[in-house]
Amino acid sequence: MSSKILIIGACGQIGTELTTKLREIHGVNNVIASDINTRKLDLVNAGPFVILDAKNFNAIKDCCINNNIDTVYLMAALLSATGEKYPMEAWDLNMNSLFHVLNLAKGGQIKKVFWPSSIAVFGPTTPSLNTPQHTICEPTTVYGITKQVGERWCEYYYNKYGVDVRSIRYPGIISYKAMPGGGTTDYAVEIYHQAIKEGKYTSFLSKNTNLPMMFMDDAIKATTDIMAAPAKNISIRSSYNLAAISFTPEEIANSIKAEIPEFNISYKPDFRQAIADSWPASIDDSVARNDWNWSHEFDLKTMTAEMLTQLRKKYNG
Ligand SMILES: NC(=O)c1ccc[n+]([C@@H]2O[C@H](COP(=O)([O-])OP(=O)(O)OC[C@H]3O[C@@H](n4cnc5c(N)ncnc54)[C@H](O)[C@@H]3O)[C@@H](O)[C@H]2O)c1
Repeated sequence: MSSKILIIGACGQIGTELTTKLREIHGVNNVIASDINTRKLDLVNAGPFVILDAKNFNAIKDCCINNNIDTVYLMAALLSATGEKYPMEAWDLNMNSLFHVLNLAKGGQIKKVFWPSSIAVFGPTTPSLNTPQHTICEPTTVYGITKQVGERWCEYYYNKYGVDVRSIRYPGIISYKAMPGGGTTDYAVEIYHQAIKEGKYTSFLSKNTNLPMMFMDDAIKATTDIMAAPAKNISIRSSYNLAAISFTPEEIANSIKAEIPEFNISYKPDFRQAIADSWPASIDDSVARNDWNWSHEFDLKTMTAEMLTQLRKKYNG
């Protein structure tokens, strides 16, 4: 029998594409998309959609009961850059939404939970190269703190109450369908849009800032793979390291120049530079690769080719 799924925060950068993929796998009517607003009309009109506040336990519970939901993907969050501007709002949304969903699973209302963590759980004291699965996590952003604490609670709910919660630490996600929602790696999406629209881009990170990144198709594949894996294969119940590529603003600019020679990049670091400087440059994700056969497909060159092809279609028709 196919799962009955609720996606909370479905109108975001990842939720938009996750909804489409889960509907392909499970059938349109088995995947209910939800968000606090209806700003992505194409998603709202593409299948079942409800307005749902991730901070409202009773609303989530009612939605799950009324629709026989067995699996929840909790994608609503305030991201790293926005979280620094609104620290209490980030804490409130990121933590309470997680507790609501974990408590529904603890009560038996739902059977399975996906909740994304982030490379933001790491901090300046974390080994920066090939960061191991188990390592020092002393995050310096509110967002990172919410993700680190969230990981601890996920593991606790699994150990104490048997909640089948699965999680991955996404790196910066790059996609062409929805714009990113206020993270520190957003530059790596904006740069492609500006390359097509303006032929130039001013990066808010300095040219040698090396960060772990991933093309959206790989992130969605990781998400559906971990949720499809047998429970016995999931040895990490906090959150898995996940990696694909690492690059700097200069390297992504060079990959664009290989296709658009006149493209020009300049650098004007802002407050997000300090956040980026606290994160690792590359991630060791061998545990995910061993446990549930994770592998990525896109490297910088193939991702750039795909981003430019799709954005040319979008802007130039
Ligand atoms: N995009 C990335 O690069 C990245 C990297 C690491 C981790 N993540 C994590 O993945 C998840 C999804 O990220 P994203 O990039 O799609 O975020 P996003 O900001 O693009 O989308 C978040 C969505 O949540 C919705 N939302 C906000 N408040 C809500 C509320 N109270 N109730 C219901 N919905 C609400 C927003 O309207 C938005 O559509 C988040 O947990 C994020 O921390 C993302």
